Amino acid sequence: MTAMPQIGLREQRSTKGAEVLVSEDWVSPEAADPALRETRGKRGVMALKRSPLARKIIIFNLLALVVLVAGVLFLNPFRDSLVVQREQGFVTEAQLIADVFEARLPDEGMVDMAPEGAFARWVGNISLSPGTSVVVLDSTGRVVATATGPADGAARDDQSTLITGFLNALWDSTSRLLTEPEGRGVSVDPESLARTLFAQALAGETAVNLGKGASGGAFFSVASPIERAGEVLGVVALISAEGEIDALVRNEREQILQMFVLALLVSIGLSLVLASTIANPLSDLAAAAEIGQDGDARKMQAGRIRIPDLAGRPDEIGRLSVAVRGMVAALYDRIDANEQFAADVAHEIKNPLASLRSAVASLHVAKRDDQRTRLLEVIDHDVRRLDRLVSDISNASRLDSELVKEQEETFNLTKTLTNLCDYLGQQAGEKGVELITDFPVEPIVISGLEARLAQVFVNLITNAVSFCEDGDAVRVWTRKRDDRVLVVVEDTGPGIPEQALEKVFKRFYSERPQGQFGNNSGLGLSISKQIVEAHGGVIWAENIRPTHADATSDPLGARFIVGLPV
Ligand SMILES: Nc1ncnc2c1ncn2[C@@H]1O[C@H](COP(=O)(O)OP(=O)(O)OP(=O)(O)O)[C@@H](O)[C@H]1O
Ligand SMILES: [Mg+2]
Repeated sequence: MTAMPQIGLREQRSTKGAEVLVSEDWVSPEAADPALRETRGKRGVMALKRSPLARKIIIFNLLALVVLVAGVLFLNPFRDSLVVQREQGFVTEAQLIADVFEARLPDEGMVDMAPEGAFARWVGNISLSPGTSVVVLDSTGRVVATATGPADGAARDDQSTLITGFLNALWDSTSRLLTEPEGRGVSVDPESLARTLFAQALAGETAVNLGKGASGGAFFSVASPIERAGEVLGVVALISAEGEIDALVRNEREQILQMFVLALLVSIGLSLVLASTIANPLSDLAAAAEIGQDGDARKMQAGRIRIPDLAGRPDEIGRLSVAVRGMVAALYDRIDANEQFAADVAHEIKNPLASLRSAVASLHVAKRDDQRTRLLEVIDHDVRRLDRLVSDISNASRLDSELVKEQEETFNLTKTLTNLCDYLGQQAGEKGVELITDFPVEPIVISGLEARLAQVFVNLITNAVSFCEDGDAVRVWTRKRDDRVLVVVEDTGPGIPEQALEKVFKRFYSERPQGQFGNNSGLGLSISKQIVEAHGGVIWAENIRPTHADATSDPLGARFIVGLPV
């Protein structure tokens, strides 16, 4: 049994910003609760579904990714640059074909512009990319030769997977909602397209047109003049396959979407890991704490709240676990101490009550007056003892909360002790006990609860005086040593039994001569210890003996020492 739960004034007042309390049950993760590890093992992704925190982590992570990809797709930056690149390529190709024709033309004289003539042969030799058409017109606009590249392979669509196909369809329908409908295009007839650019090309410049085919695909048509010595002899027109640009754009988009799907999977995976390392331990902590709120009181009795030990985690959750464990341990200590206190109180009250009951019972049968008077005296004594006990207990039980509430102040310890000894010295003098004081001249200024510390010294001095007889002496002296001050109360009384030197500080321990029995509750020293320790000090008892005396020899008296920080 220890004294009341210890409250340190100094500790309590300096906990702001302090490190988390590391309780004695700090253990490594290997030693962590096996039951906890088992539940952790069983828990899978399903548990995350129930965790709002995990859901939030996953959704927020995915949202960021989706916004990024949607932004990239919507802004479509690659489409414009692709169109420009492709257009330039086409113009160069058309000019190149025109140059080739020009190089083959005879320097002067008639040029064979018959439909089945030289141009048809030359055109037939050009290797064209799939779907591309070439049309050669003479200066009158008559078609001299045409050629078309191999059939446009459907290979480009083969790459799309089920997911990207779905995402592409989704993208197309969304982008259609967001962009202006451009309407269906014209059907791609190379000859008529060549004619539309004919006039411009005939004027000597290369004409370009970006059109939209019947099925909605974009295509280029480029017309370049075939010149000889500044005279335009004809026009060569190059028409791209319909939808070629769109296929390229789709290809780019497809790659982005593939990356997106990959990033999505990685993000989901990482989110799950992150969520499980945050949400799961928090839910463990919460679940453990929730047992304490169980309405079923029987279950609560069965076991104590056991907060999972996550001390091994070097993060906030580890800190939280340590802090909550420390808090729970402190609360249980407190509860235990209160229970013990209640048990001690009940035990202490039982003695005078039993004596009272037997006195009352005897009173009924007592015949003689002197017997009755004697019993009434006993009853009176027991009632007074109970009264004193109850008020002492009530003071002691409130001590904790009051020590915290009271304000520390600085005061001169020497002055407090001088005043106390003046007053108590008189009482001791009446009993024939001399109270000797020995205090340094300079003041000893300390910070603390003056009234409470005075209570400690009053108890020590009255105890000492109560154990002294006529002719004995009590000496109170004090010295300041570095950062500590010692207050010593010694007497020439009977001393303290060796085995009781520590027990005297326990609650309700009272060992007094026959005459004094029952007048003291045995709370004085336990309260004193509590007050001194709340000030960050120490208190102990010893017997006074000559330097080399045997420990079993009769002591010369008792000595109580209080050490306080200055
Ligand atoms: N100066 C002393 N000399 C010998 N024994 C002492 C001395 N001071 C205390 N004790 C022992 O310690 C016990 C506990 O002291 P404490 O002050 O706690 O209780 P109490 O004095 O008996 O009761 P209360 O202080 O509640 O009136 C005493 O009963 C006594 O046995
Ligand atoms: Mg006392």
